[in-house]
Amino acid sequence: MTTSEPAPGTPVARNLKEGGTVEPVREILWGTAQGVRKYETPAEFPPDMRKLVVKLMVVQADTEFASIQQHRPWLDRAPTLEDRWIEARIVADESRHGLQACRILREFGEEGQEHIDELLAKREGEHKLDAFNMTFDRWSDVGAFTCFVDRVGVYQLRAFQECSFGPLARAMPLMLSEEQLHLNFGASVLRRMAQDGSKYYGSREEAQDAIRKWYPRALDMFGHSNSETSRRAIEFGLKRWTNEEARARYIEETRAIVANIGLELPPENFDRHIL
Ligand SMILES: [Fe+2]
Ligand SMILES: [Fe+2]
Repeated sequence: MTTSEPAPGTPVARNLKEGGTVEPVREILWGTAQGVRKYETPAEFPPDMRKLVVKLMVVQADTEFASIQQHRPWLDRAPTLEDRWIEARIVADESRHGLQACRILREFGEEGQEHIDELLAKREGEHKLDAFNMTFDRWSDVGAFTCFVDRVGVYQLRAFQECSFGPLARAMPLMLSEEQLHLNFGASVLRRMAQDGSKYYGSREEAQDAIRKWYPRALDMFGHSNSETSRRAIEFGLKRWTNEEARARYIEETRAIVANIGLELPPENFDRHIL
């Protein structure tokens, strides 16, 4: 990464025009094919890239559909009317994100459709990543999940921003703006518990417990350090940062957010499964 590159996890806006509009970028911005026109169909991919894009999109769609199942019980149990409305919005957004990832999978013909059929058949507990097989037992789980797990999702989406596959790159801006609402909501749920905790929202201790439950799973989501897949994703111009670069930046960001709310993060290596 050169010094002119954005820091891991920050939004990319090199093509920002006067008035704040963003011009679509036509050429590949990093990796071994830098400067070449972006790929518009899988038929144009270099060897081995197809498998990687399919894998990334299957994981992406799986997390979107899983989180709908996790949020569902809170649609009519969230503490306030406003919280219920936001829960409904989150479910609608995640559903649209799942659809968007599946539209990209459809570009892969029969193979893509087989993955879509499998994704739609998955029930609670059958998903790829641990964070998406855990349940929201208390309202504090909703707060910690949206604050920490959705935030990892945002890092993954920002890593795809302006990537080498045109249809994927163009899906990012709307998904990112919707995800921003989810993680702001998560932080506000935790803040309400920490600062004016009542039996209505849940206590400060409950918020702290939820952080210890979800934060290690969120850090795991970045994947293994020194991962071969993440190195290849950068070479193909698909992802912008390695797993460890993105995770380090995320730790810095979440440390500041949690301190501001007046709660504590567990140590980085606490309860981790993937290092
Ligand atoms: Fe999403
Ligand atoms: Fe989300």
